[in-house]
Amino acid sequence: MSNDGVDTSRRRFLTAATSVVGGVGVVAALVPFVKSMSPSARAEAAGAPVEVDVSKMKPGEQVTVEWRGKPVWIIRRSEQNIEDLPTLNEKLADPMSSADQQPEYAENITRSIKPEYAVLVGICTHLGCSPTYRPEMAPEDLGPQWKGGFFCPCHGSKFDLAGRVYSGVPAPTNLEVPPYHFLSESQILVGVDKGAA
Ligand code: FES
Repeated sequence: MSNDGVDTSRRRFLTAATSVVGGVGVVAALVPFVKSMSPSARAEAAGAPVEVDVSKMKPGEQVTVEWRGKPVWIIRRSEQNIEDLPTLNEKLADPMSSADQQPEYAENITRSIKPEYAVLVGICTHLGCSPTYRPEMAPEDLGPQWKGGFFCPCHGSKFDLAGRVYSGVPAPTNLEVPPYHFLSESQILVGVDKGAA
């Protein structure tokens, strides 16, 4: 009986230790992702701006940072992606970004300061799920017209690579563009407009 008791506690301990190790693994996996972007976790939680180094991003790559508890995506668009944006206009609900979903400096076809970098809040404007980045061209499930963008798995809303919502999906507006500006050629500060820090 007492042996059973010992064995059980040991099993419990091992289970707990395994869970902790699992937890550490998750944290370790997230570190490279967040490392270069945050003055401190506490400042981030309080809504401080988040600095992102985009110097190593290749066309097509996506980086996600957290700002005010929300995911913010930075996407480096390729030349082809930029050329494709105007060709999608007639399929979109608000191609010219007339709804108030972006700062003034992002009221353009790419919804960004520099055409090659999209900066978007990664929350679906329908009911708040986080859409999936789908950069591939014409995948089977999204059809031959698909030129890269974001697909929301919750109810099927679709957005292009500027976060512009397609017509006829549940999401009512384009994805939000947060305030941001470039500190240098390759440093973006998410969370604050230029000169407003
Ligand atoms: S939350 Fe994205 S489609 Fe409903």
